[in-house]
Amino acid sequence: MGKMKMAFIGVGDMGSHHCIGFDLLEETDVRYICDMNNQNVARTLAELKNSSPEVVGDYRELLGKTDIDAVVISVPNYKHREVAVAFLEAGKHVFLEKPVAHTLEDCDAIIAAAEASNRILQIGLVYRYSNLYRRMEKELRNGRLGDVKLMWCKEFRDPFPPTEWFYDKSKSGGAIVEKDCHHFDIFNWMIGANPVRVFASGGQHVMKQGQPNKITNSYSHYPAKEIADVSIVDHAFITIDYDNGSKANLGLCMYLKPKNLMGEGLEIGMIGENGGQMVARNDKTIDIVGGNDLTKDHLDIDVTSDSIMGGHTGGQTQRAEFIRCLLEGEQPFASAQVGRNALLIALAAEKSILEERYVYLNELAN
Ligand SMILES: NC(=O)c1ccc[n+]([C@@H]2O[C@H](COP(=O)([O-])OP(=O)(O)OC[C@H]3O[C@@H](n4cnc5c(N)ncnc54)[C@H](O)[C@@H]3O)[C@@H](O)[C@H]2O)c1
Repeated sequence: MGKMKMAFIGVGDMGSHHCIGFDLLEETDVRYICDMNNQNVARTLAELKNSSPEVVGDYRELLGKTDIDAVVISVPNYKHREVAVAFLEAGKHVFLEKPVAHTLEDCDAIIAAAEASNRILQIGLVYRYSNLYRRMEKELRNGRLGDVKLMWCKEFRDPFPPTEWFYDKSKSGGAIVEKDCHHFDIFNWMIGANPVRVFASGGQHVMKQGQPNKITNSYSHYPAKEIADVSIVDHAFITIDYDNGSKANLGLCMYLKPKNLMGEGLEIGMIGENGGQMVARNDKTIDIVGGNDLTKDHLDIDVTSDSIMGGHTGGQTQRAEFIRCLLEGEQPFASAQVGRNALLIALAAEKSILEERYVYLNELAN
């Protein structure tokens, strides 16, 4: 079989990484880039080593092309539905960035289009491809903790990139939808049960609607900017109850300056029914302590071989596995369904903050 011919729709912070990463894979041919932001296109083209794609400004020019097998869509969340459905209906396989969409309605329209077209749809839930989180799951499968009873995530960090759409809830879905669908998916994956209800408390401590908020961010290529239209929360505590009695909690702070320098960075931890604990820190290390055998393990995980250019752990493995799924006709590990399950928790948390009550997930799905 020849190389997989690919198009990239949106090459901002995330899409440029995808384009550069797929360009490095043997089995792919980067044929087209589509973005109306010329600076972002130029940044991306400068990094490509193996291909010279054609550039277009409107994705609709690509829908009828026969030399495209798959597209990678990294446009802002509120455009996921429009772009993903168009390419699925045109018969292309789709790698779509997380969250599946900013609303459940859009998410379900995308899933329906994937089912109708019988194409592969993989979601950019990159943690599912990370050496680190796969190792945690392997420890659980081997029975190191027994069933996971309690889980937590501390996501204390600097703000989103200084780009307006992140701060507009009608475009991103809100901070919890945009950011924490990743972590809710890890909860669902490790706990292995069905989430039932969510309670959350959150608000605006520092970045407030209507005031000139000076936004700086540690990883984006965009310069600092003042953004006044901020309709998302900048902090929250969120609790999730599962149908097997397990519970998970996530703490979110989006206004650390400059970023988390405390060493532990992102922390994801769990306690099993045997009393053992397992904690991942900084997307790099795992500590496993206690439980039946009273041992203490510290694991430094190789989170370089699964990524590129210092990008997210799992970033390059998710691309290689997308291609493998296309070649073998296999459903992706980060399927649209797991993306939807994570989105449901995020939407319930956003609703719980607004309505100051428990939100049951089955309220949302109706
Ligand atoms: N998996 C992760 O860890 C991760 C990290 C960051 C962002 N993301 C996701 O990636 C997506 C993009 O985020 P980003 O940070 O790259 O945003 P960004 O604003 O940097 O980039 C978006 C790009 O899409 C382009 N665009 C907008 N509408 C378009 C259209 N109709 N056709 C073609 N191009 C269009 C913009 O010009 C811009 O270059 C979002 O869904 C976000 O949630 C995922």
